[in-house]
Amino acid sequence: MSIETPVRVDVTVGSRLSPILIGHGASEQLAALLDAHRVGSRRYIVSNPTIWRLHGEQLQRAIGIVQPILLPDGERYKTLASVARVYDALIRAGADRGSAIIALGGGVLGDTAGFAAATFLRGISLVQVPTTLLAQVDSAIGGKVGVNHALGKNLIGAFHQPALVVVDPRFLSTLPRREFRSGLYEVIKYGMIASRDLFERLARQTKAVMAKEPAVLVPAIEESCRIKADVVSKDERESGLRRTLNYGHTVGHALEAVTKYRRFRHGEAIAIGMLAAADLAAARGALAGSDREALASLIAALGPLPSVADLPIADVLEVIHRDKKVVNGRLHFVIAIEIGATMTIDDVTEDELRGVLRRVGLRA
Ligand SMILES: NC(=O)c1ccc[n+]([C@@H]2O[C@H](COP(=O)([O-])OP(=O)(O)OC[C@H]3O[C@@H](n4cnc5c(N)ncnc54)[C@H](O)[C@@H]3O)[C@@H](O)[C@H]2O)c1
Ligand SMILES: [Zn+2]
Repeated sequence: MSIETPVRVDVTVGSRLSPILIGHGASEQLAALLDAHRVGSRRYIVSNPTIWRLHGEQLQRAIGIVQPILLPDGERYKTLASVARVYDALIRAGADRGSAIIALGGGVLGDTAGFAAATFLRGISLVQVPTTLLAQVDSAIGGKVGVNHALGKNLIGAFHQPALVVVDPRFLSTLPRREFRSGLYEVIKYGMIASRDLFERLARQTKAVMAKEPAVLVPAIEESCRIKADVVSKDERESGLRRTLNYGHTVGHALEAVTKYRRFRHGEAIAIGMLAAADLAAARGALAGSDREALASLIAALGPLPSVADLPIADVLEVIHRDKKVVNGRLHFVIAIEIGATMTIDDVTEDELRGVLRRVGLRA
């Protein structure tokens, strides 16, 4: 497929624009795109060895940078120590306020390099070049950056809107199948919260999506980016609307935590969380049974999810309650009331949650 002019979607926060450029092959024009958007003339690529081995040569050709700053690959390296490695390299290279970081990688890399950009010299320009589906539709958009602490995930962070996000679905050709599927569940989430049309296209063309056929995949990525950009533009700091992005995440996060982030890819836990939220809504009569079924069959069509049968309901409830204390109030739970529309409820009872968790297969 030839390189096309990228589609542009803007995140607008205050008077600032944070453009997202989406196009098959867009990263091959990276130098021109950076120039056109007047991104700092001294540019430093931050990546990891896995991605650099697969895509470094092509990127170097596109942008002509010799020495990347490589961080070790993996969630366990999403730490302040990795951020410090970026600072070290920047200082040694003489980076200044006019310099820019180009983060080439998945969500882990983007969050880590992004936090370095947010804090180095009180903030330098950041360009996100996401290489996983999850990062392309979610983590690279919206300006949340940060790292983990030994006592919890994402405890240290900042808001730092990227000067530019360049989404090139070509990177996904090398993405392992399980990582790809993990991102697809977030695409399904966008369908559930904001677009029945997107949802139905995914359901109709599941095979083509799974085969990464650009004609089907690229528009789905575009629409996901548009939905996230729209929500973030209206509510950068998560006072209300941005919470709808947490559809499926109350239960999903708890599942990740009780399994110490080892069993599920993030999207897989969210898939189960969405099933739980749909079940809860259907049991209240707030979501049509046919919509719940449609979600369940689309998720099933992507393949099996890790088992939850050995996970005690009580453990998951405990984590959900602990989260609730952190926000110092009632549990806010996002439900879909039809495919494409949500509402937030704050009167979910313990019994209701228990029933839902049992029905999605957890251990009583
Ligand atoms: N900032 C936000 O708003 C936000 C939102 C959602 C998730 N996140 C964060 O995102 C992280 C998860 O991101 P992820 O799912 O992208 O995982 P990841 O960054 O760990 O990437 C998964 C694996 O795929 C590899 N990889 C990346 N691109 C590849 C490619 N094109 N080909 C082959 N391999 C490739 C990575 O090196 C890694 O080994 C979590 O830390 C989560 O907290 C942040
Ligand atoms: Zn998520």
